[in-house]
Amino acid sequence: MNIRHFDKPFEDVTDMFVLSTKNTDYCIGIIYDEGYVSHVYYGKKLSGYNFERLMRINEYPFGKAGKERERCSFHDMLSHEYPSHGIGDYREDCLSVETAAGNCAVLPLYESYEVIEGKPGITGLPASFGSNDEVSTLVLHCTDRMLDLHVDLIYSAFYDNDVITRSVRITNKADEHIFIKKVYSACLDMDNKKFEVLSLHGSWARERHIEKVDLTHNKTIVESVRGESSHQDHPFLALVTPNISQETGEVYAMNFVYSGNFRAGAFVDQFDSVRMFMGISPEDFKWKLLPGESFESPEVVMTYSDCGLGRMTRTFHDFYRQHLIRSPYLHAKRPILINNWEATYFDFDTDKLLDIARRASELGIEMLVMDDGWFGKRNDDSCSLGDWKVNEDKIKGGLKHLVDEVNKLGMKFGIWFEPEMISPDSDLYREHPDWAIHIEGREGIRSRNQFVLDLSRKDVCDYTYEQVASVLRSANIEYVKWDMNRQLTDIGSSFLPADRMGELYHRYVLGMYSLQARLLEEFPNLLLENCSGGGGRFDPGMLYYSPQIWCSDDTDAIERLSIQEGTAIVYPLSCMGAHVSDCPNHAVGRTTPFETRGHVALAGTFGYELDITKISKEDVDMIPGQVKMYHQYNDLVREGDYYRIASYSENHLYDCYGVVSKDKKEALFTYVQVMGRVNYKGRRIYLQGLDPLSEYTVDDGETYTGDVLMNAGLLIPEISGDFKSRLIHLEVKNG
Ligand code: DGJ
Repeated sequence: MNIRHFDKPFEDVTDMFVLSTKNTDYCIGIIYDEGYVSHVYYGKKLSGYNFERLMRINEYPFGKAGKERERCSFHDMLSHEYPSHGIGDYREDCLSVETAAGNCAVLPLYESYEVIEGKPGITGLPASFGSNDEVSTLVLHCTDRMLDLHVDLIYSAFYDNDVITRSVRITNKADEHIFIKKVYSACLDMDNKKFEVLSLHGSWARERHIEKVDLTHNKTIVESVRGESSHQDHPFLALVTPNISQETGEVYAMNFVYSGNFRAGAFVDQFDSVRMFMGISPEDFKWKLLPGESFESPEVVMTYSDCGLGRMTRTFHDFYRQHLIRSPYLHAKRPILINNWEATYFDFDTDKLLDIARRASELGIEMLVMDDGWFGKRNDDSCSLGDWKVNEDKIKGGLKHLVDEVNKLGMKFGIWFEPEMISPDSDLYREHPDWAIHIEGREGIRSRNQFVLDLSRKDVCDYTYEQVASVLRSANIEYVKWDMNRQLTDIGSSFLPADRMGELYHRYVLGMYSLQARLLEEFPNLLLENCSGGGGRFDPGMLYYSPQIWCSDDTDAIERLSIQEGTAIVYPLSCMGAHVSDCPNHAVGRTTPFETRGHVALAGTFGYELDITKISKEDVDMIPGQVKMYHQYNDLVREGDYYRIASYSENHLYDCYGVVSKDKKEALFTYVQVMGRVNYKGRRIYLQGLDPLSEYTVDDGETYTGDVLMNAGLLIPEISGDFKSRLIHLEVKNG
């Protein structure tokens, strides 16, 4: 049973709910007849729930129910499930409104509950899913009776995954409108365990670097107000106990299934309790809810681990592979692609692309992806976004001809789009300047010479959809790279009235999701790869639509170690876009061995991003071997359990990670020596995730039991030089 209800478990506690997963329990208490919804416990699975004293209901200022209680201090101290604004809880709250009369206090109180087998969807938003056997949902119906505002707190417990998802639905049953000014999706009030905050920060070409800071009485906020989840901040936050390691320590983690503005944070309050929260950023957010309307928030995925970060990582990986990513490609080997971006940038034509394709097909590469520059008059980034007509001066003979020729080589064909954008220098903009997000009378800020389309408008979405779809209908195109190269500014829409302008950021995201949903409906077998100037929109929301996301525009193998480590702490390797590119690397100018570039890209979807007609013969000669390596190991990399062994970003010398098959019969570890050192000795690495008693044969023919490899370690013989790498493959023979 995933969800249990206890009627009047203690004095002054009217209802208690326990959501259970395989290894965790989450407990909510409804205190007093007044209906305060209080958080009681989240953590390791328990054998009983005698929480009466822990709920502090006998302590001052909790006092007795009714009028005597000192209510302000009470709210400021209570562990709330969903704290609201203006009623005496002065900590960061989750819900704030503005009534027609201009007031902002709101206090939703418990009314009733409902248990639903399975998991309802969220209108217009990506959300996890599961069968009735896998997940149960608890809905706590709460109401602010004065406002007739109904707030449903929705919790889904995925038993086998140790995941609880949370979202809220707000319904206005009054006969006048109300504005929602802030609506978070989840909150956790807990005691402090000297927590540290782990988050993923970054920049363009340096996404998702792991950072850990102490949790203090000052708020730690991770937030994007850029209109997308962003390169800079990431909608993930974990509270971890001191000295957290891969295998030990406690972790409370939240990840947001949303691709727009978000805010996540945590702090210690005056009583040394901790509050952690996540939701849509309230910056510039204001949603007008008419009588009878509902607003549904995006969902937060939560997990708790008492076995370190490694357990948390594998929980997220399994959860996203089983309950979020829907693509038919999820469990399939993706075609090894070659993308012409770093090969040619905008300077290409049919002949050039076919030269690349011919050479690539001879070497075993399976798909050609034509990147930016094939449409309108686009020979640099200054024009034509929105004019999705093939430029036949470059693509001589037309798109279908090119695709057919590529297909004749036995290769698939993929194409790049940036559907959400409009160049000021485009026919589309000349015809519809009001289709760009802009503020009337203010000169719009250009970024990469472009504006963003106003996807809050249905006519703009319909037009954009037809542009993309008609190109896809015109030829056998099996893959789309959906790019998004600028963040939002000048938030204004010629469609929305003044009192709805605060809806634009969220409506933009809803419009973008609707476009991707329509695309997959019409082209269900399309392999979609999302991208945003590299990894600026690498989040669970996008994974609902695409099984892979381009991880970063930094393709340097060494920079990628930290980027991919931070990405893989949450997201499965099967969704991490990673390619072998040319050297010196175009982003950082570093030269690394071709072999190392291949080993590092193997941890993702794998492909090439270079001019195969120009690179050295030595490098070309290695490609068939890399293709073979991908085919040999991709099933394991895509489906296996990920283990982090050592981190270059911590030790500044070497990196090591691995994937172990679910049955523990096969494993592949990747070791990268970033800095060579005169050591005169090899380096021991301590593997993880193996079966202690099984005998593993390593590629050198030696056999070791799993416990030896994990406790005594495996010796990597001394390697001379920087940026060198080794793959270590282990197999249980005759197992
Ligand atoms: C940013 C992407 O990350 C690159 O791979 C490439 O597609 C460019 N945009 C094209 O403009």
